Amino acid sequence: MDEEYDVIVLGTGLTECILSGLLSVEGKKVLHMDRNDYYGGDSASLNLTQLYRKFRPNQAPPSELGRDRDYAVDLIPKFIIASGEMTKILVHTEVTRYLEFKQIAGSFVYRDGRISKVPSTEIEAVKSPLMGLFEKRRAKKFFEFLQTWRDDDPATHQGLNLDRDSMKTIYEKFGLEPGTQDFIGHAMALYLDDDYITKPARETYSRIVLYTSSMARYGKSPYIYPLYGLGELPQSFARLSAIYGGTYMLDKPIDEVITDADGKFVGVKSGGETVKAKQVIGDPSYFGAGKEAEGGKIRVIEEGKVVRAICILKHPIPGTDDSDSCQIIIPQNQVNRRNDIYIAMVSSTHNVCAKDVYVAIVSTIVETDKPELEIAPGVNLLGPIYDKFVSVTPIYVPTAPGTADNIFVTKSYDATSHFETVVEDVHDVWKRVVGSDLVLKKRDTEAEVQG
Ligand SMILES: *[C@@H]1O[C@H](CO)[C@@H](O)[C@H](O)[C@H]1NC(C)=O
Repeated sequence: MDEEYDVIVLGTGLTECILSGLLSVEGKKVLHMDRNDYYGGDSASLNLTQLYRKFRPNQAPPSELGRDRDYAVDLIPKFIIASGEMTKILVHTEVTRYLEFKQIAGSFVYRDGRISKVPSTEIEAVKSPLMGLFEKRRAKKFFEFLQTWRDDDPATHQGLNLDRDSMKTIYEKFGLEPGTQDFIGHAMALYLDDDYITKPARETYSRIVLYTSSMARYGKSPYIYPLYGLGELPQSFARLSAIYGGTYMLDKPIDEVITDADGKFVGVKSGGETVKAKQVIGDPSYFGAGKEAEGGKIRVIEEGKVVRAICILKHPIPGTDDSDSCQIIIPQNQVNRRNDIYIAMVSSTHNVCAKDVYVAIVSTIVETDKPELEIAPGVNLLGPIYDKFVSVTPIYVPTAPGTADNIFVTKSYDATSHFETVVEDVHDVWKRVVGSDLVLKKRDTEAEVQG
């Protein structure tokens, strides 16, 4: 029997939905299934009933928090970098037509026990309370160096070579203090740890330029966020896929991923029926991650854990000028850790909760056997907390590229505060599934008229 579909996609998380959207646009026949009765998998946004059901099955949401339908609480806290790769995919696929974005009102960093705005230009650096008088002058020279750098003009290089010299060399050249290096490397270049310091400076330079150019786009922060929560992102790509003939089925139990005698993918058994396809793509939970695994072989390995605390507040975060939304980064060195702690806060401005409620998610990579203590430095910045939901989630990665058996597994969502690594995974899986690089073309609007 011929395969009915080119690709079966399991799980409607963001990575899987972007892939099924792009594959459908490319002309592939896609069947997309999810065991849940809602879109988004691990990257869903939940209403109050769903949130309490997930974390406190025996407790109804307090009526004080308002109406269920006002809530869309993200399970994975991430923001979109205005000039980043995620924005590129949204624009090129024109998925932006299904979404409305608002900027995030502030970007803050923790230094020496308090939080301050992240300066992103030499002018802001000079005003920043993050640095003393002499350090400000040095930081100003550093930012000027970055802003005037032109690859083809050695006069702007000040004797430095971004492809050869390490970031350490560059910090030393400008005499920047360790605390200043912390906010540049972690709150602007958005590194999770300090491994970047000894590597060639080019990547860090590009990341800082991405931060400052994104900042320049909207002014208050380099981040944007979709109204009604991040769960809108996978749903928008699902709509794109559907326009191009993709089939979506929610609430489908996945009994087994079926392979032939050589271990190659044959089809997916769901509710006693087998659907055949050439290839399958799915999130780790369908391939042996944790106890939710359905039938078949384990194809993922745990690569660490993330602890996340969803905190419901009745006030903005202290010290953020009453921002209705913000990101706060606590660089690892500032609290004697190896991984940064992130805080992402959104509110009714983004239609994700009732008026006068604020939802802050504190997260980090787990380093000890007491993960809740590890996020305490972040939780302590929030002021009184109305309610808190803590989870520890393993990060899974595939054990094989999938090209040998046509079974392609995506990665779990990591601890980064943005979507750039999700887009990297999309490119990576695409290349293995299709056999060539993903080239983002503007989509053919004709198809939509016919669809
Ligand atoms: C919230 O989620 C529950 C469970 O999925 C659903 O039954 C309910 O309709 C949702 N509430 C609103 C207002 O959307």
